[in-house]
Amino acid sequence: MDEEEYKKRLSSNFKLFDDNSKKQAKEFLELCTYVHGKYDEDAGFQDLEKHVRELEKPSLDKGLKRDRLYYLALPPSVFGTVTAHLKKNNYPGDEGHAKVIIEKPFGHDLESSRVLQKAIAPVWTEDEVYRIDHYLGKEMVKNILALRFANQFFNASWNRQNIACVQISFKEPFGTEGRGGYFDEIGIIRDVMQNHLLQVLSLIAMERPVSFAPEDIRDEKVKVLKAIPPIELSQTILGQYDRSEDGAKPAYTDDETVPKGSKAVTFAALQLSINNDRWEGVPFILKAGKALDEAKVEIRIQFKDVAQGIFQNIARNELVLRIQPKEAIYLKMNAKYPGLGTRTVVTDLDLSYHRRYSDLKIPEAYEALILDALKGDHSNFVRDDELDVSWKIFTPLLHKIDSKDEDVKVEKYAYGSRGPASVNQFLADRGYVRDNTKSYQWPVTKGN
Ligand code: BG6
Repeated sequence: MDEEEYKKRLSSNFKLFDDNSKKQAKEFLELCTYVHGKYDEDAGFQDLEKHVRELEKPSLDKGLKRDRLYYLALPPSVFGTVTAHLKKNNYPGDEGHAKVIIEKPFGHDLESSRVLQKAIAPVWTEDEVYRIDHYLGKEMVKNILALRFANQFFNASWNRQNIACVQISFKEPFGTEGRGGYFDEIGIIRDVMQNHLLQVLSLIAMERPVSFAPEDIRDEKVKVLKAIPPIELSQTILGQYDRSEDGAKPAYTDDETVPKGSKAVTFAALQLSINNDRWEGVPFILKAGKALDEAKVEIRIQFKDVAQGIFQNIARNELVLRIQPKEAIYLKMNAKYPGLGTRTVVTDLDLSYHRRYSDLKIPEAYEALILDALKGDHSNFVRDDELDVSWKIFTPLLHKIDSKDEDVKVEKYAYGSRGPASVNQFLADRGYVRDNTKSYQWPVTKGN
């Protein structure tokens, strides 16, 4: 590809709303240049160095340093080679600083992740490496610590004495169309659960950090992850999507890039437990699926029942943090229905961002994270030991699934449905109560 082609590809992804965004896109493109080379040969890296030095001239004239950020959106098989060549040919040494951002997948399992770590670690220090998990850049995910620790009513009730179960769910309404070949090797667990959803879980479950300093936050995340034993197959529901009920949408295996008879997992519900004083006995359920009935990522924290006594069949409190679309926090609660009677109804305390903060622009996850990396803030990036412990939780299960043992059952579900039929029972068995009062509905009644 040449520079023109590169810019054409870049701009095909722009969303241009008005004349101003067209102007910004043009200015942005003028800043972009393209140098090509091979992953494993010095020559291309040397060309890059020459080019970057040219670009740096005006900044150096102003007394600035050679501060560089390398972003590797590359297959993990070349991370080691490329980072080694970058260090050899493109490292500013005493003349500045360099950082390198790495995109998942960080390995395939515990062992391969360690191999990757070992390839990078002697060359780049942990301080220079930024492992990006874009869920950590999402506004609502970044809000979790403030919400928990800056509100005494949540802070005080955030434990096994008050919480019955926690569910973190990720739903996408489209299948793997066109990405089937890639997805088949990966499956939904590696794609979004071992990373994105586990990151969310660690923020929900961790102890209060000593400060907001990156290492203090990451120390607490590692500590809580260490208290989670590996997930057992018996604590899972696995699924793969089939054709939609009307036959209009394809089954996963209809994709030509998918091997015939593939057992790849496109839906999973997994129960994790946390063996510490705060959480012992509280099921944490991660649920994720492709080709489901809607696009939604949310956290549901369900509180224990109040004593029934004076009430009959009264609903539980449930706190919902909607990560996307349209960020919202709402707390389902009971109140007396207004009027002369004494009947209670389920209602809510509701913070919908698009209404409350209607004139604020919420940055995209990548915008926020790239800025953090430029500033040298590691808080929302994955540390090496965090990665290691997260693979420990998932690797035995993933190996079992990969081995295609007889006891690995992959249930079919229709494209566009809520997932495999056994999911409701799975959730109910783990203490999750689906709303039993038909009086409350979110978000339809709210125009959300
Ligand atoms: C990526 C996965 O990491 O996250 C994709 O590889 C998934 O399969 C995507 O669709 C979801 O990200 P978001 O920000 O759209 O929720």
